Amino acid sequence: MIHVHTYEKWWIGLSLAMLVVFAIAVGVAGFVLGFQVPEPAGRVDPNTVAKTGPFANPGLRQLAPGKYEAYIRAQASPWKFVPDKLELPAGATVTFYVTSVDVQHGFRIDGTNANVMVLPGQIAKTTTTFTKTGTYYYICSEYCGVGHQNMFGTIVVK
Ligand code: CUA
Repeated sequence: MIHVHTYEKWWIGLSLAMLVVFAIAVGVAGFVLGFQVPEPAGRVDPNTVAKTGPFANPGLRQLAPGKYEAYIRAQASPWKFVPDKLELPAGATVTFYVTSVDVQHGFRIDGTNANVMVLPGQIAKTTTTFTKTGTYYYICSEYCGVGHQNMFGTIVVK
């Protein structure tokens, strides 16, 4: 029988207890509190998304006073967002739906909490309220090729 020092037994016990505590914490977070890995808001065919459906006619739509949705396509070659300019009244709440027609892009609006990964075949969704007037830039936040630095758009809030 191997002799295990008393302190070592305590540390082994503590390590096992921590594993159990962490496993319970992960289980509670996932199954009781509902923390899940983000899922795409929808799926699309990147080969046809520019020709059919809401991304064929991207841009801003008003749903109700102060409430909008915006459909934006991200693309490489040439690298750009379609559209690359939006105008909004102050206080507008906008739900953005963004997809890619080719490679992985990002969509981040400076000065807001909007920051999503944009993957071909998936629709990324994020909602932001623009309380202050001014110009906001949305930029591609994932390296997507030699024209990556050209991928940006502006939101003018009046
Ligand atoms: Cu698109 Cu970087």
